[in-house]
Amino acid sequence: MTKTGFIFDLDGVIVDTAKYHYLAWRNLAEELGFEFTEEQNELFKGVSRKRCLEILLDIGKIEASQEQFDRWMIEKNEDYLKYIEKMNASEILPDVPRVLEFLRKKQIPVALGSASKNAKPILEKVGLLHYFDCIVDGNNVTKAKPNPEVFLIAAEKLGVSAVNCIVFEDAVAGIQAANAANMLSIGIGDSTVLSEANYNFRDFREIDLQFLNGLLKE
Ligand code: BG6
Ligand code: MG
Repeated sequence: MTKTGFIFDLDGVIVDTAKYHYLAWRNLAEELGFEFTEEQNELFKGVSRKRCLEILLDIGKIEASQEQFDRWMIEKNEDYLKYIEKMNASEILPDVPRVLEFLRKKQIPVALGSASKNAKPILEKVGLLHYFDCIVDGNNVTKAKPNPEVFLIAAEKLGVSAVNCIVFEDAVAGIQAANAANMLSIGIGDSTVLSEANYNFRDFREIDLQFLNGLLKE
């Protein structure tokens, strides 16, 4: 059987942290005197912290010096960390542990491929860190999704060729990154938004054993 590698995004795939990112950006927008909606927050999914702030400032039509920009980056992250601090296993998205457990039992290599610089502490907090053979996150990449870098590094670390990797993603930029890496992309969330994915599921509850076993045979 071909050696298959599984790569998971973090925010919005494993844990429901998109809401905390949103709250922290909304707090900053409020402080700067404008509204930041949940709809606009869609643009922030899978996107690096720096790029998110650039988009936020564009929305608010605010210009900032480099120094001010850096301060807001820190402020947003400190605010986000306050929400994260209280996280526990109850915030793992449905059926994620079942799938991770299945892969562990089959001894399939598993990686995290996330844009976040907070990935490791979050996995520790929710008690899932031990399922991952390697973590590739915002601290290890120079090019943000939709660039495939994060997933290509993950494949290399797993010792699996890119074409034999399967990526779970909730962001358009993430699906595009997986496709650009020549990997099989699985969209988790709204299939109309993630229409570029090879397969779509609302969440992991829809992913059954037959499908998982099928991926291993492909
Ligand atoms: C991604 C999120 O996983 O990580 C983005 O979808 C976020 O919304 C990005 O901006 C960076 O996260 P962090 O934790 O480094 O600010
Ligand atoms: Mg995500």
